[in-house]
Amino acid sequence: MARSSTLSSPTVVALFAAALLFLLHPLNAELTADFYAKTCPDVSSIVQTVIHEALQYDPRITASLLRLHFHDCFVQGCDGSVLLDNSPTIKSEKDAAPNFNSARGFGVVDKIKAAIESTCPETVSCADILALAANASVYLSGGPYWTVLLGRRDSLTANQGLANTSIPSPFESYANLTSKFYVLGLDITDLVTLSGAHTFGRAHCKSFTPRLYNFTKNGGPDPTLSPWYLTALQKLCPPNFNPKVITDLDPTTPNLFDNHYYSNLQKNDGLFETDQELYSTAGAATVPIVNSFSADQSAFFKSFTRSIVNMGNISPLTGSNGEIRCNCRKVNKS
Ligand code: HEM
Repeated sequence: MARSSTLSSPTVVALFAAALLFLLHPLNAELTADFYAKTCPDVSSIVQTVIHEALQYDPRITASLLRLHFHDCFVQGCDGSVLLDNSPTIKSEKDAAPNFNSARGFGVVDKIKAAIESTCPETVSCADILALAANASVYLSGGPYWTVLLGRRDSLTANQGLANTSIPSPFESYANLTSKFYVLGLDITDLVTLSGAHTFGRAHCKSFTPRLYNFTKNGGPDPTLSPWYLTALQKLCPPNFNPKVITDLDPTTPNLFDNHYYSNLQKNDGLFETDQELYSTAGAATVPIVNSFSADQSAFFKSFTRSIVNMGNISPLTGSNGEIRCNCRKVNKS
């Protein structure tokens, strides 16, 4: 018997249901490089122009913006949640321990958003702005340029509790540090590579002072801190330090994105415990990676372009999930 060319009614119903489901919940689209090619073709250069202007009065802004992308992606994925202010429905991640009095650059993100909205309204997400700002920031500081994958949408929620637990503290053990990256799909190479972001920017005394005093059981400092660096940091941050004092993460080239972070670690000049652990943990798989990046800046840059894309792929909202915020500080219906 010849097969009928018409579909049976149960099949039609099933196909219709599948089509409806797809329309209502489009499959999570992958991020793509040309997401705004038609809708906002100049988005990258707008981002770069605003950051370039900000750099004229704030040499630290590029470091601060790169860090915002990291703090965004590590908390419920790269969804702009770090940018939301407190409101009756939002408990801001800005008040979580890793961000409070520390995360910065929000005003420049506002400026980027305003410039984009005036050219391509209601089109570019705040999460994508952070990804583009990370790229422009690294590039403007002497580092590599990469193809940024785009198409993220913005969250309707923030998660302050998760910000407190997911973002690693500078006092994390090597085991905890690696596992906090691992659960987000980032391996040891990503950890060592992305930590290289500590080649620029600043830190407060509270982030490293426990290393300087009474660190060991017999009252001594962290033995994996070089003598000159220990003395310099103790001078800057006495036990009763001023909470506003900051210091360079990379004492050699503080505003440049280069591979000195790794040569610093080889000299026991890493600022945070978590930095120095990557080199000073006996037998750790991270040690040869530190050595290779210290010897070869282009290997570091190449790896950075891979790892930052990996980080930017953490659980994005796509399709019809989330929204495109008009103002990065609040959800649209608030
Ligand atoms: C590996 C685990 C990490 C830990 C424990 C850590 C911890 C920290 C801490 C404690 C500060 C200084 C905060 C302060 O004292 O105010 C800091 C600054 C910074 N971090 Fe990290 N971080 C890590 C990974 C990363 C990653 C993956 C990136 C980016 C890809 C990044 C980029 C930065 C930058 C650029 C700064 C300087 C920011 C500025 O000057 O405003 N960090 N980090």
